[in-house]
Order: sequence, then structure tokens, then C-alpha cells
Amino acid sequence: MDIRAYNRDAWNKEVNEGDNRWTQPVSREIIAKAKQGEFSVVLTENISVPKNWFPALKGVDVLCLASGGGQQGPMFAAVGAHVTVFDNSPGQLKQDQLVAEREALSIQTVEGDAADLSMFADESFDLVFSTILLHELPPVVIQNMIAEIHRLLKPGGLTAHLNLPPYSQMSAYNAFLMNWETHNNGEPYWHAFHKLDLPAVFRVAGFKKIREVAAESKSTGRGAYSGQSPYLVTMAEK
Ligand SMILES: C[S@@+](CC[C@H](N)C(=O)[O-])C[C@H]1O[C@@H](n2cnc3c(N)ncnc32)[C@H](O)[C@@H]1O
Repeated sequence: MDIRAYNRDAWNKEVNEGDNRWTQPVSREIIAKAKQGEFSVVLTENISVPKNWFPALKGVDVLCLASGGGQQGPMFAAVGAHVTVFDNSPGQLKQDQLVAEREALSIQTVEGDAADLSMFADESFDLVFSTILLHELPPVVIQNMIAEIHRLLKPGGLTAHLNLPPYSQMSAYNAFLMNWETHNNGEPYWHAFHKLDLPAVFRVAGFKKIREVAAESKSTGRGAYSGQSPYLVTMAEK
């Protein structure tokens, strides 16, 4: 099976159907607020990333990895970052182009697979960011990708990745539910990812100041278990 093509078609379909929140571009109002300095990037279904998690964003080079959908990329661009949005789905990237045209923002979009970041030069980004990507990839691809992100970051650069926490930090009940659902619902790498020691992967790749920050999100939406989705952001510096 060609997993990349399967994944691309699935996300293109989500864009066409328009119901999935992560395919819906940010509004004019939100971009206008960002231009006035009211910057917020939504991290979970209802929680924004605290502004102070990010470096000063004006003029920095940001790679939004697997972040198509017209959400985070336009927000970073609105506060003056040089943004590259990289995604496997042309439909998702179109949403970023749509917002960029609508708001006269400059955003570069690149279609590709996160397993191959060789098109980007060494030390070309200050910040590399992903949300809910890592569980889509087999552990060996995650390891190679984190090493590649280290290559792509400038010295002192930051990388941040949002995911659900590993099974070791979850109740046995939630871990069982997630494992069962994902096993039977087309998420072949979920189990392996949630058993991975992610901080160790960053350490091996040469990162420093590795930290995991919890962001609780009460939710009854899709993907929520027992009405609660505790998310975790893994952050590290080069
Ligand atoms: C949950 S969405 C994330 C986008 C969204 N802007 C957000 O706020 O979370 C997951 C995205 O990852 C992309 N994706 C999944 N696997 C990928 C891969 N191997 N390489 C690049 N992009 C990938 C999908 O096309 C989709 O746009």
C-alpha cells in the first residue's frame, strides 16, 4: 500500500468536505488581530500556544511541518515571520495559499513527505513546528526526521511538536481505548509512536534543553477520549 498517497487522498477529501476543523482557514478577523499584535496559534481544540513559548517572530524563518490547512502558517506570517508551510496534501496547502492571497501575506508552500526534508538547506530555519504529525510516521522515520530538523535549524533554533502523550503517561483505560480504536481505524503507527521515548530521540539527534509541556484540553470533539484530551508539546533547542 502507498501510505503517502492514501494519506494525501484522505486529507484532500477532508478539505473538500469542509467539516474537519484542521482544514478550515483562519478568518480575516483573526489575521487582523494578529497584525495588531494579538497573536495566538491554536494548539488543541480550544487552547492557544502561550505566546512566550515562541521566540520573537518578526523576521524569523519558520517551517510549519505537516501544518497545511490555512491556520498556523498565516498567523506566523501575519506577525512578520518568513513562513514555509510543508504538507503532503495539495488541498491543505491550497488553504494556506487562499489565506495568503486574501490577506496579502507572503507564505511559501511546499508539497512533500515529512520523511524527506532534503530539499531544505542546512541551518535555514529558526523554528520548526508540527502539530499531530508524529503518530502518522513509523519510529525510524521519526528518528530520521528529528535528525533532519536538527540539520535544518540555525544554532539556537527551536523545534516544537504537539502530540498526545505516550502510553506511560496515560491511564491504562485511555491507552487501551486509543490503542483499540487506532488499530482498527487506519492508524498503523499509533501504537509504536505512543511507546517511543521521544525526548531520547531528540537527545540522540543532538538537541539541548529538551522539555515536555502539558496542555490540558477538555473536549468532547472527535479524537477525545473520556471527554478529555491531554496534549503534550515536546520542545528542544539546537
Ligand atoms: C491534523 S492536520 C495538521 C494541520 C493543522 N494545520 C493543525 O493545526 O494541526 C495533519 C496534517 O499533516 C499532514 N501530513 C500527514 N502526514 C504527513 C507526512 N508524512 N508528510 C507531510 N505532511 C503530512 C496532512 O496532510 C495534514 O494536513
